[in-house]
Amino acid sequence: MSLSTVRPAVLVAGGAGYIGSHTCKALHAAGFLPVVYDNLSTGHRDLVRWGPLVEADLFEKDALARTFREHHPVAALHFAACAYVGESVADPAKYYLNNIVGALHLLDAVRSADNVPIVFSSTCAVYGETQSLPITEDTPLAPLSPYGRTKLAIEQALSDYAVAYGLRFVCLRYFNAAGCDPEGEVGESHEPETHLVPRAILAALGRLEELTIYGDDYPTPDGTAIRDYIHVCDLADAHVAALRLLLAGGKNAAINLGTGVGLSVHQILQAIARVTGLEVPSRIAPRRHGDPAVLVADNSRARRTLGFSTARSNLENIVRTAHAWLTRTSETTELRVDKQRQSDSTREHGQSRSTRIRFPHG
Ligand SMILES: NC(=O)c1ccc[n+]([C@@H]2O[C@H](COP(=O)([O-])OP(=O)(O)OC[C@H]3O[C@@H](n4cnc5c(N)ncnc54)[C@H](O)[C@@H]3O)[C@@H](O)[C@H]2O)c1
Repeated sequence: MSLSTVRPAVLVAGGAGYIGSHTCKALHAAGFLPVVYDNLSTGHRDLVRWGPLVEADLFEKDALARTFREHHPVAALHFAACAYVGESVADPAKYYLNNIVGALHLLDAVRSADNVPIVFSSTCAVYGETQSLPITEDTPLAPLSPYGRTKLAIEQALSDYAVAYGLRFVCLRYFNAAGCDPEGEVGESHEPETHLVPRAILAALGRLEELTIYGDDYPTPDGTAIRDYIHVCDLADAHVAALRLLLAGGKNAAINLGTGVGLSVHQILQAIARVTGLEVPSRIAPRRHGDPAVLVADNSRARRTLGFSTARSNLENIVRTAHAWLTRTSETTELRVDKQRQSDSTREHGQSRSTRIRFPHG
């Protein structure tokens, strides 16, 4: 008897990446078989642990069709995308091609597979600079970056396909995913790493020369940008809930996934000092194009429709689990992120001020 006759298969495009791999673990725990479809462009073979890996690209339409034929997934989860805001400004063609055309290929395959429901990885970057906070799903959509615009385009395609072809979907608009699997089976290994929490920890561990803080002149209490950090395991569980909702005939929806709590860059660095006893060497650089001052979610729709919990999203737990993962993973990350940091700061930001911010330990 094959595994898929015991467990319903779910196609996980991009399941070898950070959020996808954590979601595969949650899917397995919930009784599903995650079938990962990934070209390993930013993902990792060793993060695929709870089902088969189909190593292929969204642009390989035959491989996509074959995967649906062979595994008969009851639903698809779509994580596979390019996800760096800064890179999307420098190279929008890469983003429009992969995130829009790639996603449309997946939607074609979904339509050919009797319109199995789809859960789409969207982002708070679809909102842009908002007039009021916290951000609800009805806040006007006005993305500031090509990345955000590609995600919005697919949200719109999903709505149009729903009307025309009966496609069923949930768009999950993540705020800032952070933290790692507390059991250390999977974790965050972006190359280059651009997310604040892991970069700051890498700097604290001495594996990055310093952390660049983009902007200390925002209209926020300490001048640094405020974001809403959600633990990746809470995000993963929300995917299982969204999947169950769709399988039970639930309505199409866009749903924010965040904690509702905003934290500044300085607050993150202070938490790292508290939890690890390490200071984060840092320097201030100008703001980045496309970075709003504050992004904080209203998550009431997620709580109501998905039973969404933020139980693991307290900052200490985020830092502790990310620190544990990063102290275990290979030192090779250091060389890659550092190289990228240098090229980023030359290309995008010109000159920067150097400071070394110290925090009390303990
Ligand atoms: N990390 C965050 O904080 C965050 C926030 C909001 C939204 N998102 C979205 O969540 C999703 C997952 O993010 P992540 O941080 O896990 O990124 P990630 O880079 O770790 O994972 C993306 C995965 O997709 C694969 N992939 C990309 N293009 C592909 C293609 N054409 N064919 C097949 N596979 C392809 C990559 O190899 C990788 O395994 C992305 O769609 C991203 O836009 C992430």
